[in-house]
Amino acid sequence: MPVLDFIYQRSSCHVHEMCLPAPNNVQLKRIFQAVMSAPDHGNLRPWHLVVVANEQVPNMCELMCEAWLEEGGDIDPAKIRRLTNYLGDAPMVVVVSANITSPHAVSRRDQVLSAAAACQNILLAAEEQDIAAVWYSTDAAELPRVQQLFGLTQQQEPVAFIMLGTKKSERIKPRGEIDKHCYQWQGDGELVPLFALEENDHAV
Ligand SMILES: Cc1cc2nc3c(=O)[nH]c(=O)nc-3n(C[C@H](O)[C@H](O)[C@H](O)COP(=O)(O)O)c2cc1C
Repeated sequence: MPVLDFIYQRSSCHVHEMCLPAPNNVQLKRIFQAVMSAPDHGNLRPWHLVVVANEQVPNMCELMCEAWLEEGGDIDPAKIRRLTNYLGDAPMVVVVSANITSPHAVSRRDQVLSAAAACQNILLAAEEQDIAAVWYSTDAAELPRVQQLFGLTQQQEPVAFIMLGTKKSERIKPRGEIDKHCYQWQGDGELVPLFALEENDHAV
């Protein structure tokens, strides 16, 4: 399939839409190799990946639930239990963090964005192998105890929990129209919709 068509049809599979087996080591290596070509300001390679294998997922969820209940502030305990239970059905979890070099001329934000770009590459590399994948954030990842749980240092900022497994079924999702998102700059704060212009009026 042409690369762009492949990108156009990529879609996430939520945990309840995936099952075992989790990706094997060969597949995982192919996925993580794609991280290495994420855009990277300053060649810092700010990518830190922690895999939770299937047999450890229940343990991870239990410890995360405990930590979240202890430190979670105002969030409803029933919601915490529901969310962590849901993750318990994941065939595999990858915790993606930005490994921040600081102080550095490259901003923390750029390093976090590079880790986010790495996440997209993970989703694409999974899809290329027909592996189910979804990117979750959880408020829990902000908690020091949860970061400690994943062996993260203060310089390692979690950006995603990516769940990987086998698709239960194939799904093609309708995607949005580009028109509402694209503008052409016409000088000091002035924008016009890009595709409403006459073909000859814009430079792209
Ligand atoms: C930074 C980020 C965090 C996300 N966190 C969650 C999440 O916690 N729970 C969730 O259901 N979807 C979350 N999503 C959305 C899903 O990963 C997915 O993109 C969405 O369900 C749409 O599916 P699609 O990728 O097939 O368009 C997140 C996406 C991003 C980019």
